[in-house]
Amino acid sequence: MEYYRSHWVNIDSQRLATYDQMFQWTPKHAFLIKDLRLDEYECAVDYGCGPGWVSLELAKRMGEGSRVVACDINQEFLMLGEKHAADQGLEDRIQWRHVTDDRVPIPDNSADLVLCKNVLGYVDSTDEMLAEFLRVLKPGGTLRMQEIDWDLLVVEPLGSERLSEMLQYAKHAIRDPQIGRNLFGSAKRAGYTNINIEMFPVVDTAGFLVKLTLENFIKYAIDGGYSPEKGKQFLADLHTSLQNNELLIVAPLFMVTGIAPQKTSSI
Ligand SMILES: C[S@@+](CC[C@H](N)C(=O)[O-])C[C@H]1O[C@@H](n2cnc3c(N)ncnc32)[C@H](O)[C@@H]1O
Repeated sequence: MEYYRSHWVNIDSQRLATYDQMFQWTPKHAFLIKDLRLDEYECAVDYGCGPGWVSLELAKRMGEGSRVVACDINQEFLMLGEKHAADQGLEDRIQWRHVTDDRVPIPDNSADLVLCKNVLGYVDSTDEMLAEFLRVLKPGGTLRMQEIDWDLLVVEPLGSERLSEMLQYAKHAIRDPQIGRNLFGSAKRAGYTNINIEMFPVVDTAGFLVKLTLENFIKYAIDGGYSPEKGKQFLADLHTSLQNNELLIVAPLFMVTGIAPQKTSSI
């Protein structure tokens, strides 16, 4: 199995707990559901749902009798999601589905919405995944995707040369590091209509992306042959910059929304 896939399937308990915390929904995530008519939907898919925080927010806003199908490659995430849903009384509204083959386990033309946040950089083929989303979407249904573009990441004052050297070694952990900018073209090729692209830069001077993202990337880089000493120094310099109030991280998020067209009959 490719590393970009296996590192999501095998997650130790400490990393699992960190992800559970770091993926939590905050009001800053509201852009993800803007302009969606969630109260009118019968079925929404959260593909690559992780511990389910986005699935819970969809379920809370969807009407009586609706369902969210939350899919992930990691079974422990699904168990965490199920627990969070029970804690919030949402267990009847969310179906947790383990997926292993980049397929959405629901029939054709059955979803009003497919939401996919920070996942497409890890699937085997973005184009095939978008075709699969098109299969399950009702005509007129909405696909919303959000991804970072790793090659546009800014980490100052460490500088772009040092960052790109480290990221180069970590790239085996992401199939497509430029997935952010590639979403638009993929949605076009797959045949979605009314495609809308927006960018939401995350600007971090408080260092929350050090824990959330860069620590993981340093680990992936070391797994990929980056020298452990360099990794240690990179992390130490991030912390020093933070202490000196000099740290600036900018993570550009791309959000692309498309509409499933009417399907023509093959008969
Ligand atoms: C960065 S996390 C994002 C989690 C969640 N979407 C969020 O933003 O809170 C990526 C998620 O995608 C899942 N994932 C990775 N590859 C996948 C695949 N091929 N099919 C389904 N899920 C996958 C991982 O297990 C993980 O939960």
